[in-house]
Amino acid sequence: MPSRCEQPGLEEAAQSLAVAIDGPSASGKSTVAKALAQALGIPYCNSGLVYRAITWSLIDKGVPLDSQSAFKTAVRQMNLECRIEGNELRVRVDGREPGEEARSPAVNAAVSRVAACSWLRRRLLPIFRRLAEGGPIVMEGRDIGTAVFPNSRFKFYLDADPRVREQRRQKQGEADSIGERDWEDRSRAAAPLQRAPDAVLIDSTEMTVDEVVGRMLDELRKRGFPLPKDSSIR
Ligand code: CDP
Repeated sequence: MPSRCEQPGLEEAAQSLAVAIDGPSASGKSTVAKALAQALGIPYCNSGLVYRAITWSLIDKGVPLDSQSAFKTAVRQMNLECRIEGNELRVRVDGREPGEEARSPAVNAAVSRVAACSWLRRRLLPIFRRLAEGGPIVMEGRDIGTAVFPNSRFKFYLDADPRVREQRRQKQGEADSIGERDWEDRSRAAAPLQRAPDAVLIDSTEMTVDEVVGRMLDELRKRGFPLPKDSSIR
């Protein structure tokens, strides 16, 4: 990983064309962000995948996560590659993609602890921002509207009833204590999960994916996002 902690060298214009979607676990972010990016014909970036890939690699190498120095040494030595390929973010650590392991019970249980590290988050910020340098993107996560692209005019905060979110995750067949993860993500000091004041709040509890995406497209239109002529839900 590059050791320098760069300030964003990004043009204001590029940052302001990033569509930011934040929200708690299983609020529907990934499905909706993917569909929205497809409707807009622009890349979809799942920032959570980066935290998951790092966590997967640390677990794989047997790095003790409670040792700050072992953790930092391992992260410094990682070759982290984040690239947009075929309109999707691909993440490799030391040349390998985590694949399904990114969502293993071990990664689910440890990822929020890894993501709470402000030192790590500072290193990742320029990597995330660089992804928008090639043009507009949709990026989902926890701090995209608040910390990664605070200058974006296109921010959404997606939420849903906690019971519905729990049910959605169970249906996906994943062992994942989303309540605990949400608590960790909301209560950490570094870039906690919170709604940016200028983010549009959408409660997806009783909405279909198409309805949420339609609502987002309407909002983007109102806020002046350059929509392609045929932007529709596919
Ligand atoms: O799929 P799900 O919404 O459950 O999680 P994810 O987006 O894959 O993110 C996994 C974890 O990474 C979150 O629980 C956060 O701890 C962390 N994360 C973060 O801190 N900041 C982001 N921008 C994205 C993810």
